Amino acid sequence: MSCLVINGKKKLGGEISVHGAKNSALPILAASVAVGDECLISNCPQLSDIRATVNILRGLGCRVAVNGSQICVNSEDLSYNEIPDTLMRELRSSFIFMGALLSRTGRAVMCAPGGCEIGVRPVDIHLLSFRQMGVQIREEAGRIVCEAPEGLQGAEINLSFPSVGATENIILAAVRAKGTTYIKNAAAEPEIKDLANFLNSCGADINGAGGSTVVIHGKQKLHGTDYTVMSDRIVAVSYLAAAAVTGSELIVKNAFPEHIGTVVSTFRQSGCHFEYEKKQIKITSPSRLNKMGTIRTMPYPGFPTDCQAIIMAMACVARGTTIINENIFESRFRHVGELNRMGADITVTGRSAIVNGVKNLYGSCVKATDLRGGMSLVLAALCAEGESVIENTEFIDRGYEKAERDLSLIGADIRRE
Ligand code: EPZ
Repeated sequence: MSCLVINGKKKLGGEISVHGAKNSALPILAASVAVGDECLISNCPQLSDIRATVNILRGLGCRVAVNGSQICVNSEDLSYNEIPDTLMRELRSSFIFMGALLSRTGRAVMCAPGGCEIGVRPVDIHLLSFRQMGVQIREEAGRIVCEAPEGLQGAEINLSFPSVGATENIILAAVRAKGTTYIKNAAAEPEIKDLANFLNSCGADINGAGGSTVVIHGKQKLHGTDYTVMSDRIVAVSYLAAAAVTGSELIVKNAFPEHIGTVVSTFRQSGCHFEYEKKQIKITSPSRLNKMGTIRTMPYPGFPTDCQAIIMAMACVARGTTIINENIFESRFRHVGELNRMGADITVTGRSAIVNGVKNLYGSCVKATDLRGGMSLVLAALCAEGESVIENTEFIDRGYEKAERDLSLIGADIRRE
């Protein structure tokens, strides 16, 4: 397994570009199964999760050609609607194929995605919604078998929680259903709007995506398209945080303030300044960050849970005490122990982390615990005294394309070993 070696306290500068959004490319690639034609999808990030999704598409009988960040998928000859357990275990978010396979074939079989490093990750909201659309669901030898013998029917669905994955899965099941589907209390993340834009470019009829009520008029057929995935807002925040923790000035290209509004106000509270130009954000950071008060992760447009570990790295070296309440996932503080090994002063009680800012962190040997937790360790290492070694980089590689390449281009002393 590789590790990242970082010598901290280097000033960063210049400009860095953000790659395509993992959490948009994954559902869009799955959606190509429902389209049944050739889709050219550009700006896909080159990540292990994307490669796992391509393997699933090929396993289902789709023709897939990958050329860097451009992926051409033709699902015309789709011949299966079951996903092997080995592939499901490689990528738990493959549950998003359930809706697309139901749309295209009226049947889908896969094992329950199971939990991961940040929580149990149930899919009860997905399954309850499918039942309302006429899907019969049973468990067979640990696998979930979904069948719609009468075809999928539009329904009025009220989500008990604005689940991102459930909203996406329902949209995918509804695009070719008979009648109209209404999703109330839908998740409003920008990636959902990106998925709807992709499907509408394939001839679907989806309105209201990106808001709390989404209306999908089912269509008989969809057609191919040429679509560019939005840029990754969490990666953008990660790079802005790299500047913030090193007191640097940085231009982050392909970054959109409208996608990270609540995070920008937290950065401002810490003393960072922003200038916006077309498709880029320039950040100017103070030599030491101010405390950021209390941060509560919430569904969009609230503070994103995926930025919780990132902002915690900033709070570790900020003045005063910052309180972080994680309201979305039940075990998303596993990076705290590793940050404390670097000299941070963080106490966790239940879903709250109390971060007393310290003047200095110290380079240490630490292990990434999950994707965003791993990035928080990189950020902490960038501002720590001395050398840090971060192991389990495969977690980080799930969401960041060659982090060491991009960060060294802006002045970080970082290498992969
Ligand atoms: C998506 O996960 C993202 N993943 C996550 O990003 C992100 O943290 C999350 O949305 C929240 O924004 C992808 O898009 C691939 P949810 P998802 O369903 O869809 C509970 C990253 O770092 N819930 O909105 O799984 C669930 O347990 C990843 O890129 C149910 O109880 O998130 C959680 O507590 C991590 N029953 C909450 O809802 C269900 O049926 C939010 O989950 C579904 C969800």
